[in-house]
Amino acid sequence: MTYLITGATGDVGSRVIRQLLERGIRPRVLSRSEEKARSLFGNCIDVFAGDLSDPASIRVAMRGADAVFLVNVGPEIPSRDASAAAIAKEEGIRKIIKLSSFDVEQGLAIGAWHEKGEAAIRAAGVEFTFVRPSGFMTNLLAWAHSIKTEGIVRSSTANGRRSFIHSEDIASISVAALLSDKYLGEVLPITGTQLHTWGKITEILAHAIGKPLTYQVISDEEARERYSRISDSTKETEAHVALWHAIREGRLATTTNCIEHILGRKPISLQQWATENRHSFCN
Ligand SMILES: NC(=O)c1ccc[n+]([C@@H]2O[C@H](COP(=O)([O-])OP(=O)(O)OC[C@H]3O[C@@H](n4cnc5c(N)ncnc54)[C@H](OP(=O)(O)O)[C@@H]3O)[C@@H](O)[C@H]2O)c1
Repeated sequence: MTYLITGATGDVGSRVIRQLLERGIRPRVLSRSEEKARSLFGNCIDVFAGDLSDPASIRVAMRGADAVFLVNVGPEIPSRDASAAAIAKEEGIRKIIKLSSFDVEQGLAIGAWHEKGEAAIRAAGVEFTFVRPSGFMTNLLAWAHSIKTEGIVRSSTANGRRSFIHSEDIASISVAALLSDKYLGEVLPITGTQLHTWGKITEILAHAIGKPLTYQVISDEEARERYSRISDSTKETEAHVALWHAIREGRLATTTNCIEHILGRKPISLQQWATENRHSFCN
């Protein structure tokens, strides 16, 4: 089997690559930057310089491959998933493992983009598994600046709860789906075991870094204004404000036992992630 991994320089994709290398598998990588891919994985991979917005480069990377791990980001997810799926079908790719989102079930915000991407993959007629993670623990790194400079965590989620997931767990599930045909045609909604309020997450981080932190509830307007400072995409900003609103209303307060079922162990806890990453929150 030849595996083509996209998003390989990113959080989940890089862990997928490492897990494949640990199993003695040499994956192919489609990356916008060969230099970046080589700096991460040296000569242990085959790099195809390309862009998921460029169908010709996707075709070259897919030719002769068997399975694809597909990571698309941002508002272009629907069109880029559709394009990748159409080329995969033409090139005889056996299956696409798509990194999707738990929020597809709600048709919400970024989940709505993934919902359209999933529909395009189904329509293309290529076999698939949709890996649908809940919120990534790595999202919490966005709080590093305010924690370091003010000791404050701000969020419009108020007392709403969500389950967070470690990227290593997402990668493990994705690798399981790449290596086995057991999950063909399935959607895998994956979460941690616990639902946390943002206040509780603040406590967990405070404990990990050994410093008191304050949780401050902010309005949707303030959340929008703050997010727009770090994003030049109005669509991305609005998607995040809608997501936090839905969490505040309790619409995403669900867990599944999918990880335990597939991996035969519990998901990695938020406490462990906080300990692993505590240096990111300290000066
Ligand atoms: N964060 C969450 O809570 C959450 C929850 C559920 C689902 N998700 C989904 O997870 C995915 C993001 O995964 P991640 O966090 O592992 O990604 P990430 O760390 O943000 O990295 C994104 C990867 O995609 C690559 N990429 C971006 N645009 C590209 C293009 N035009 N052509 C080729 N490669 C491109 C980047 O490569 P470069 O090195 O070239 O930039 C990088 O390797 C998204 O689909 C997101 O919606 C996220």
